Amino acid sequence: MPKTFFITTAIDYTNSPPHVGHAYEKVLADVIARYHRLKGEKVFFLTGVDQHGQKVQQSAAKAGIPPAEFVKDITQKFVDLWKKLDVNYDEWAETTSERHKKVVQGILQRLFDEGQIYKDKQAGYYSVRQEQFITDKERGPDGKFGTEWGEVEFREEENYYFKLSQHKEWLLGYLNKRSDAVIPDFRQTELRNAVEKISGDLCISRPKSRLDWGIELPFGKDFVTYVWFDALTNYISFAGYDPALSTLNSVKERGSNGALRSQTSNFLEKWPALQIIGKDILVPAHGIYWLIMLHAIGFPDDQMPQLLVHGWWNLGGAKMSKSAGNIIDPFALADKYGPEALRYYLMSDIATGKDADFSEERLVERYNVDLANSLGNLLNRTLNMAAKYRNGKVKSERFTFAIGAFDSPENESDLAALVVNFPVDSKPFLPDYVGYFDHHRVSTVLEHAWEAVNACNTLVDCAAPWKLAQLPSQAERLDAVLYYITESLRIVAILISPLLPKAAHGIFDQLNWKMELSGKEGRFSLADTEWGKLPDGHVVGKPVPLFPRIETS
Ligand code: MSP
Repeated sequence: MPKTFFITTAIDYTNSPPHVGHAYEKVLADVIARYHRLKGEKVFFLTGVDQHGQKVQQSAAKAGIPPAEFVKDITQKFVDLWKKLDVNYDEWAETTSERHKKVVQGILQRLFDEGQIYKDKQAGYYSVRQEQFITDKERGPDGKFGTEWGEVEFREEENYYFKLSQHKEWLLGYLNKRSDAVIPDFRQTELRNAVEKISGDLCISRPKSRLDWGIELPFGKDFVTYVWFDALTNYISFAGYDPALSTLNSVKERGSNGALRSQTSNFLEKWPALQIIGKDILVPAHGIYWLIMLHAIGFPDDQMPQLLVHGWWNLGGAKMSKSAGNIIDPFALADKYGPEALRYYLMSDIATGKDADFSEERLVERYNVDLANSLGNLLNRTLNMAAKYRNGKVKSERFTFAIGAFDSPENESDLAALVVNFPVDSKPFLPDYVGYFDHHRVSTVLEHAWEAVNACNTLVDCAAPWKLAQLPSQAERLDAVLYYITESLRIVAILISPLLPKAAHGIFDQLNWKMELSGKEGRFSLADTEWGKLPDGHVVGKPVPLFPRIETS
């Protein structure tokens, strides 16, 4: 049975409504998930919300409502946003769900029974932002704790600890063995350096007297789990993992196929996952805690997830944050410019792995240039010409350069060069598209697709169908030009469908193509990008503006 492509995102804190950074990550995952469906793969896309923890408890207290109620409201905002932005996930993770709690408790109990979790008293520095104790090792050269730790206070407390440091050598060995455990490369280097510095264990609990908005420890009724043990587990608890079936690290139980052998088929069918996270939660959360947690509960090395680390959208070079008051509201942008305008901007104006600066002016500019002008106008004028000169009927003529004299020899050679190298009809086009997508280079995928769009526009300009239409001797040539562009637009729609699903449907609808699947994702398939699938004599539909220009004063 072919393996399901499993993709996850970070689960967002429900202490405040979603901002454009959250939207970026989920759209990115959605685009990659759609690309895999386009290739015909079965996909399991998991996303959700992180509902427990101190920040949520504090925000709820501030709002004067119980955390459960507070979380429900904010969760709904995330759900609404994903609906608005066409983020089409298969499973929704909410960490307050019973199913999740059971898995978290099951894993904790097993680790406790194995002696991997112990109780201890600690006095030390505590980072309120990261919700963890920190040591002097975390101090910078100036002797101060870095800003990433936020407010740091002194605390003395009894808590439960997970024996993190005893897995340090394993993690180093694993990272040495697998060069693409983390992408991009420089993030793997960053992680490796951080692993070298691991010392001490991980505090995994909070006394209920201080925080009760969490999952109760099965072996310590006065404690709840520390945020990361709860949150990270979502990646397996919502994918069918059953802690009762999993074996721990005992060699006897692991067998040649590793510990996962005994998991549910539902889980085995999907795992391991490609996990998309932001750069702030690689070290230590995902790169250290999560990989070590999985190892500790018996996941073999070849069953470790791959971490795809994206950069951040900043504003004027500064981090977006609620406290700085520079949050960009994705609802407002989607309402003002349309969800696809936002998707397009978020996918085209940042290189995966790098940071970028968010700019509403850029969003409008890119929309007008790429979507309204290049793509929207091309579709519009092509369908208008098809209607005007051929009653909407396209004939699958190929170019033959011997057809008659063309009015300008200069144009003639331009046209020949263009058509010979025309991206969509030339063989390397598709492998490049697949290659960029397989390397998660989403902005490059878009640039590549726009090469085809731009080539079509140049073709229209050079061939000047309105002139050809006046010369009976040029009838075949006119048919060839119209077919070439219509067929290219059909292929372009397929290529952009993971990124701009609504626009892709719009193009297909206007081309009057695969109407029986209108609105359904299954309408698009990579196999259909083969040139010439639009049959001879096909009648295209009427033009409707796909991306009306945004007028700026
Ligand atoms: N709840 C934790 C993650 C737990 S995963 C088991 C958390 N939540 S968060 O709401 O703060 O962040 C969620 C994701 O959004 C993270 O991957 C984070 O990097 C990402 N982003 C938050 N702000 C961002 C930008 N300004 N730009 C891009 N992504 C950003 O961390």
